Amino acid sequence: MASLFMGSCRFVLILTLFSTLQLLFVDSVEFEVGDDKGWVLPSSKNNEIYNQWASKKRFQINDTVRFKYKKDSVLVVTDAEYEKCHSSYPIFFSNNGDTIFKLDRPGLFYFISGVTGHCERGQHMIIKVLEPESPPSPGNQNSTSGTSGQSGAVGMAAIPSTIIMQFIFSFLGFLFI
Ligand SMILES: *[C@@H]1O[C@H](CO)[C@@H](O)[C@H](O)[C@H]1NC(C)=O
Ligand SMILES: *[C@@H]1O[C@H](CO)[C@@H](O)[C@H](O)[C@H]1NC(C)=O
Repeated sequence: MASLFMGSCRFVLILTLFSTLQLLFVDSVEFEVGDDKGWVLPSSKNNEIYNQWASKKRFQINDTVRFKYKKDSVLVVTDAEYEKCHSSYPIFFSNNGDTIFKLDRPGLFYFISGVTGHCERGQHMIIKVLEPESPPSPGNQNSTSGTSGQSGAVGMAAIPSTIIMQFIFSFLGFLFI
């Protein structure tokens, strides 16, 4: 009986570790705009509250941004329309109260509220999505200055994260079983 109990404890522990690690290695991240306040007309005089929020984050391709709001809307517009706080034909429009937008390319995304006056009063945001990291190609390596430490680091970076994950899981399995 006792060993059976121990066995299931280990199983649960391993499952927990497994899902925690999966979170660390997961490819895309969902960001909740404005954190727990959501996408609302800023109550303060701070007109750049959402840009300050965005500047603290690192957005990568295929990450998503989630907007939660009531009686408002989310528009993705051009650079010029963002400056004017107005768009007749937005690139993207949603007003369902819970909008998930996928950042599907590198570069800049311009978000504004569609409610009259809200964008002007600070409900606007620019998100910059980073260029994808390309794995170093062996052809570009410069052997003249290459030390063994450098080439080792390059080798590590080239290993796909799935292989690192597999390695970690087999190590954990060895520890716990
Ligand atoms: C983003 O997602 C699309 C579709 O799911 C996929 O084809 C593409 O490879 C992904 N891009 C990156 C950089 O993960
Ligand atoms: C290697 O370095 C030399 C000088 O440091 C440079 O001229 C050359 O273009 C580099 N080669 C590559 C492939 O980066």
